[in-house]
Amino acid sequence: MKVFAHRGASGNFPENTLSAIQGALVSQADGIEIDIQSCKDDFVVLHDIWLDRTTSGDGKVSDYTAAELAQFDAGQGEAIPSLQQVFDLVGTRLEINLELKTVPNIEGFIDLILRNLDDQTIRIEQLLISSFNHPLLKRVKELLPAARIGALTASIPLEYAKFAQDLNAFSLHVDREFINTDFVNDAKQRGLKVYAYTVDKQKDIEHLKSLGVDGIFSNYPCQAKIFLST
Ligand code: G3P
Ligand code: MG
Repeated sequence: MKVFAHRGASGNFPENTLSAIQGALVSQADGIEIDIQSCKDDFVVLHDIWLDRTTSGDGKVSDYTAAELAQFDAGQGEAIPSLQQVFDLVGTRLEINLELKTVPNIEGFIDLILRNLDDQTIRIEQLLISSFNHPLLKRVKELLPAARIGALTASIPLEYAKFAQDLNAFSLHVDREFINTDFVNDAKQRGLKVYAYTVDKQKDIEHLKSLGVDGIFSNYPCQAKIFLST
């Protein structure tokens, strides 16, 4: 079962910062999950559209340029990273799950990905692009057909996993509380991987593994890897 560092290794470092990603790199995680927002002139790594919960800034991320956002404190003196900074730090060392939050200029996002693929900073196989916004994922797949798509859901729709299959998704990312045998079996029959968020406790990790879940998002990836190795 794969372990993705949720918002980086956010249990031990400020979420969605370069130090949290560095923490994921040293924790032997299989990948990172980070949240992407559009700002005025770039794409940055931040969970909320509002700055106040996790940074020293106020207002909406979309009202600032990346240079302005970089002045704010995202915790312990860390800056809000741009997506490019993450690619430059991680390179090809880890899987990268980009969870698209509010990204209206999706063409610009795809251009950024394509530039990084062209100069071999990253590889297409390590990317997994997810979102709760399924029409946006459909657009991503149209613009970049080789990209692996992760369909996020916080609930169990009537037709279980069909919507992800319709999206030509690689994986389904589901709130761990909703995952049961029927759901996992339905997804597997459709050729979909099942990833669960957000999972930190040993008994939850072991239970999901026993159901055949393919991956988890954990705030404590180092600990999760240890649980899985024992
Ligand atoms: O991508 C999995 C998980 O991060 C989705 O929820 O709110 O933590 O971004 P959230
Ligand atoms: Mg997320």
